[in-house]
Amino acid sequence: MKTVGVFDSGVGGLSVLRALLAESPGVRFIYVADSAYAPYGERTVSEITDRSERITAWLRQTHRIDALVVACNTATALAIDSLRDTHPDLPIVGVEPALKPAAAMSHTRHIGVLATRGTLNSERFARLRTQLERTASSPVHFICQPCDGLADAIERDDLQTQQALCKRYAAALREHAPGDMDTVVLGCTHYPFAADLLAQFLGPDVTLVDTGMAVARRTRDVLGTSIENDSAAAPPRLLSTGDPTALSRAASRWLGIQAHAEKLAV
Ligand code: DGL
Repeated sequence: MKTVGVFDSGVGGLSVLRALLAESPGVRFIYVADSAYAPYGERTVSEITDRSERITAWLRQTHRIDALVVACNTATALAIDSLRDTHPDLPIVGVEPALKPAAAMSHTRHIGVLATRGTLNSERFARLRTQLERTASSPVHFICQPCDGLADAIERDDLQTQQALCKRYAAALREHAPGDMDTVVLGCTHYPFAADLLAQFLGPDVTLVDTGMAVARRTRDVLGTSIENDSAAAPPRLLSTGDPTALSRAASRWLGIQAHAEKLAV
């Protein structure tokens, strides 16, 4: 059985784990929520690189993982190059805001992007955006909105703050969009868990796009496994550097997994 390590700044990467479990039921996933250091969105590059290196080293030492999924847009944007340099023998799959799928599906060509400040300010994101603006079949406009505090509110399960922030950021996107916006990219793995609120404030004409399934398919390709050949479902192991009960609760509510999350000190 193949083993894959997955990590995020906290509970957000569970949105990616949900897709991974659906796509590769016979793979054993070890999920690390770095909740003691969340949110990553407003941290420095060296802090995020250090956390990503420590978690990856722990996953390799303890589980001999066959691949790593960086289930965090911010860590992908700021630390994946360094991880690939340090671990050239380990297949590493990252998560990037779904600009390309959004550009392929948008009719109005005005696309909102919600992500952390770290992701939106990164060189990696700038490259992705410029490349698509240059190569899309017809001109496309991205309206980028940093969502300070939203991942943190999801992390803390604070519904009132989530509601206020989703309302604020949806209004900001609308205000800055030069025309009708029909597509919004959820560029942080925490945001799918606030999708209902965002949909409510953005209105019925807007389609929300995230990358969970694309990442899961890419991971299956990297592992060389197939859904048909997979053995029986393996329960994921869940670990948190913060409060493990918060991770267990989130996994139960969002993924229907009844797992006892463990405390991890790295
Ligand atoms: N879930 C992460 C992302 O996809 C990070 C959110 C945060 O910790 O700020 O960007």
